[in-house]
Amino acid sequence: MAKEFKRYLVTSALPYANGPVHIGHLAGVYIPSDIYTRYLRLKGCDVLSICGSDEHGVPITIKARREGVTPQAIVDRYHNLIKRSFERLGIAFDIYSRTSSPVHAETASAFFRKLYDEGKFIERTSLQYYDEEAQTFLADRYIVGTCPRCGNERAYGDQCEKCGSTLSPDELIDPHSAVSGSKPVKRETKHWYLPLNDYEEFLRSWILEGHKEWKSNVYGQCKSWLDGGLQPRAVSRDLDWGIPVPVEGAEGKVLYVWFDAPIGYISATKELTNDWEKYWKSDDTKLVHFIGKDNIVFHCIVFPSMLRAHGGFILPENVPSNEFLNLEGDKISTSRNWAVWLHEYLDDFPGKEDVLRYVLCANAPETKDNDFTWKDFQARNNSELVAILGNFVNRALVLTQKYYGGEVPACGPLTEYDRATIAELQGIKSSLEANIEHYHFREALKDAMNFARIGNKYLADTEPWKKVKTDPERVRTILHIALQITANTAVAIEPFMPFSSAKILRMLQLGKFGWERLGSMELVPAGHVIGTPELLFEKIEDDVIRRQLDKLAATKAANLAAEKKQTIVNQKDTITFDDFQRMDIRVATILSAEKVAKTKKLLKLTVDTGIDRREIVSGIAEHFAPDELVGRQVLVLVNLEPRELKGTLSRGMILMAEDASGKLRLLTPDERTDNGAVVG
Ligand code: MF3
Ligand code: ZN
Repeated sequence: MAKEFKRYLVTSALPYANGPVHIGHLAGVYIPSDIYTRYLRLKGCDVLSICGSDEHGVPITIKARREGVTPQAIVDRYHNLIKRSFERLGIAFDIYSRTSSPVHAETASAFFRKLYDEGKFIERTSLQYYDEEAQTFLADRYIVGTCPRCGNERAYGDQCEKCGSTLSPDELIDPHSAVSGSKPVKRETKHWYLPLNDYEEFLRSWILEGHKEWKSNVYGQCKSWLDGGLQPRAVSRDLDWGIPVPVEGAEGKVLYVWFDAPIGYISATKELTNDWEKYWKSDDTKLVHFIGKDNIVFHCIVFPSMLRAHGGFILPENVPSNEFLNLEGDKISTSRNWAVWLHEYLDDFPGKEDVLRYVLCANAPETKDNDFTWKDFQARNNSELVAILGNFVNRALVLTQKYYGGEVPACGPLTEYDRATIAELQGIKSSLEANIEHYHFREALKDAMNFARIGNKYLADTEPWKKVKTDPERVRTILHIALQITANTAVAIEPFMPFSSAKILRMLQLGKFGWERLGSMELVPAGHVIGTPELLFEKIEDDVIRRQLDKLAATKAANLAAEKKQTIVNQKDTITFDDFQRMDIRVATILSAEKVAKTKKLLKLTVDTGIDRREIVSGIAEHFAPDELVGRQVLVLVNLEPRELKGTLSRGMILMAEDASGKLRLLTPDERTDNGAVVG
């Protein structure tokens, strides 16, 4: 027996207030949670949708330091930007709060304090990196050095953004502090840990036994964490931005951001309603966390263990989590500015909020990573929204205006075909509901669009524009039905495209319907007068798409230039003048060049060094064709120790310059010179 719930509590991962929201966030979390919430509201359910900004954590302090402003200034800026952008996109949270709010500080402190008082934490002293110059402990993010895997000189102590490796500060080559640049030392520091290992059994039975219905990506991640064995997790940090650890002797320590942020869901509910306990503490509330896949462990393992340790709170019924959305084939990245930012989209495409909502849902990374491309955006707009949804609604409304001056005609006797069409619509309703309730929003959107598809087909098959001359009575019934389908479409698409839904109802001159009316053929009464038809969607032209692609191309070019700058190889250790003098470098001419058989890289060159003619084997076959080398003057280190390579004694080395991308260039005197001329 499925459990009966009296109310719903829907949470959406709190976005970090260190940057604007982009399409990846939307497709992964906020569009799905909004569809779900709007659907429940239309059904008349008791539902709260909770979100807010996640305003603590190291990335925010890093950004503040880089810009020379306070962390508060950073979070104020992005909190307001994010909040406003969500509103503009029609994401209808009941509250969009923030974790710097006083209610939150109080709630999170009390939560910590209760666990502390009840001995639910363990205290541990460990060695952490400390910056003696800036007199501060360094979070892993604050330690910079060379990546042991790819050589990136700006890898962080927790991750290399170039090759994507997860790192620990101890692995970095030449680690230094991002705060002062000095070499960090290790110092002892005390922290509080939640012993997750104590909750393993509870988590196993709650998730692995009790929630086999969770999406396979979520269930699978939980299983592998649990099978790997859980460790105590530190819930405090040495940092000056965050909620102070509320115990004696914890000066300079704050709650770890992943400890306080999920409590933010509770604080925000508290801010919203005095009745908050009814939502958080009754078994008949269905709690659903919408998150991205990088948040799974925190919402399925850590936060439930915290709630369990605290006691009195319900646990999530489900944690629908999406995979990642890429952009034009590349991973979306805030730091590399590789994203479509919501606020910029809203400025660039006024009135097209629903187009973005539609495309991101139709293309949502529900079961695997997915790609957003501007071409696909254009195609879905033009051939789905314009050609199907817009076209159907427009035809129904325009014909009603044209034939009946906008007055809804009465329904006459139904044909078999009419009945079949109506039955088909009613069948879609249950599929649509099941899909939303199982978090299959892509399929649900197809169902909703099918109302318009069927409407379109109905008009195409019945051809009222032809029949109006021969059988005007029949046409009255056809348009009556078409208008009922139009109103049904408005209901079905509301969770996905609220603006278009409202516009259809406005054109129909009707108020909002509840979900229970979906499938009814009595939504638009005969004799009712509809309003003036307007287009629901408009075609998006190529030049609009090109502008967006140009913007991305500019970003890519800027990133490449920045990367090049980064990979300038460090200066080598100092040598003496004598060291230098020992190298004998001469101008020489390449007389012949040929590939060394059975090798990919090697060329065998004969050069005239002025001193002699000799053979040099050089690993440049992938860079130069033999022909382009013959006759060229080059610089040769002639007193390099000879070496046998593939049966040839190679005597010397051709000097070349290698740029950041690995491209090689010959060094040639600026004018033709005698072979044997000494370089120095
Ligand atoms: N700020 C986190 C992120 O963007 C999500 C926090 S969710 C919460 O990945 F539960 F901690 F609030
Ligand atoms: Zn790397």
